[in-house]
Amino acid sequence: MTKYDVCMLGMGPVGTVSGLCFAKQGFQVIGVDINPERVASFNEGRAPFAEPGVNDLVQETLKMGTFRATADAKDAISNARVVMIAVGTPTPEETGEPDLSQLDAVAKTIGESIRDVKHIPVIVVRSTVPPGTMRNRIAKIVAEHSGKKAGQEFNIGSNPEFLREGRAIKDFFHTGRVVIGADSPHAASEIERLYKDVEGKRVVVSVESAEFAKYVDNTWHAIKVTFANEIGRVCQAFGGTPEETTRIFLADDQLNISPYYLRPGFAFGGSCLPKDTRGILALARKNGASLPMIAGVLPSNEEQIDQGVARIMQHKPKKVAILGAAFKEHVDDLRESPALMVATKLLEKGVEVVGHDPFYAVGEELALPRTDKKLKIVSLDEAVQQADAIAQLHNIEPYNNVARTTAKPVENLTTLPVADAHEARATKAAAS
Ligand SMILES: NC(=O)c1ccc[n+]([C@@H]2O[C@H](COP(=O)([O-])OP(=O)(O)OC[C@H]3O[C@@H](n4cnc5c(N)ncnc54)[C@H](O)[C@@H]3O)[C@@H](O)[C@H]2O)c1
Repeated sequence: MTKYDVCMLGMGPVGTVSGLCFAKQGFQVIGVDINPERVASFNEGRAPFAEPGVNDLVQETLKMGTFRATADAKDAISNARVVMIAVGTPTPEETGEPDLSQLDAVAKTIGESIRDVKHIPVIVVRSTVPPGTMRNRIAKIVAEHSGKKAGQEFNIGSNPEFLREGRAIKDFFHTGRVVIGADSPHAASEIERLYKDVEGKRVVVSVESAEFAKYVDNTWHAIKVTFANEIGRVCQAFGGTPEETTRIFLADDQLNISPYYLRPGFAFGGSCLPKDTRGILALARKNGASLPMIAGVLPSNEEQIDQGVARIMQHKPKKVAILGAAFKEHVDDLRESPALMVATKLLEKGVEVVGHDPFYAVGEELALPRTDKKLKIVSLDEAVQQADAIAQLHNIEPYNNVARTTAKPVENLTTLPVADAHEARATKAAAS
């Protein structure tokens, strides 16, 4: 039996709010900090910083007997089912690399503290860290200093924090989702039980995906702010009404404010997206507005095409079958089709191409961008037979069937490759 459900290492805003919210649900929480004034302040019933509701919650949980702070890390860690790390990970502007020295220090302390424990503690990173930090850095330090094996004698997890300062307690209990990264069902259930009174979806994923989630969310929020500001800038510059533009934009929850267009896959093309992105950039130029983020969109799209071409080139093909020529499946529109750009780029590398598309007849020759050469349409059987590598550009059944049955290499460019995902790498590493 362990004395504590959670040992929270680092009682800054994140460790404090999370620790107190676990304690409010009735879990036994011990908060550890190296700052003795901070520890004393908690135990005297005072929050050491301002955040709505935290002071009351300190007093409430002290009274409930579910929360206490200490500087004795060893006692707290060795007696806890879940050891959660919430120390700082500052990112100095000069390098952009997060400073993980506080994490290294707590990892060493955790290792030394769990050496003799009989239970299987779950060590969870709540601080914002680059993906892989828990498995490749913290767990290794813990293993080295405890003599215990990760995944066997202790488990690891990641449970990132998404609350906003100023409304942190509300955000904790009414979160959109709880993200649980775990190396095992044991770690997942140990983390999940701490959210018994919390509303919202549970998203259980690998440790690395959970670690990455915070970077992704915050980048997305930064992109949203910048997008809104750039649109506002160009709107003002041509004498428009930013408020009306915003109203129109936000009224669409089909394509604008929705999951649509938010899955990683291949480049965009067609008659509208590239043309109108160029259009808004021209409008901005004419009116003296600078849109650096929107200006990065078309180069980024071209990069996606280049990466697709590089995936095909790995197979060192002499001839490639392009399956799907239109800019997306189920239409015959070839305008600014990324499939045709793939064909052009392969030709530039001295690779021959043949094509197939359900809307184009055998023998047709499709004009390609940036070249006089053409993409010859052949039958699907012939395309597969002639080629020594296949580039799948549409997710439609005859092509999926080819991908399942052919012995030739197929790169499905509509999805990102997952073959070297961290789970696979970790499994390989464990097996070797
Ligand atoms: N502040 C936010 O709104 C927010 C939101 C989400 C995620 N995060 C992330 O959560 C992490 C913590 O953020 P914060 O704002 O609470 O950090 P903070 O730097 O304000 O607090 C960290 C605390 O850890 C303590 N500490 C340092 N080394 C220690 C050790 N060896 N043992 C015990 N305690 C130790 C410090 O004394 C301090 O009280 C960071 O990675 C941050 O990026 C922050």
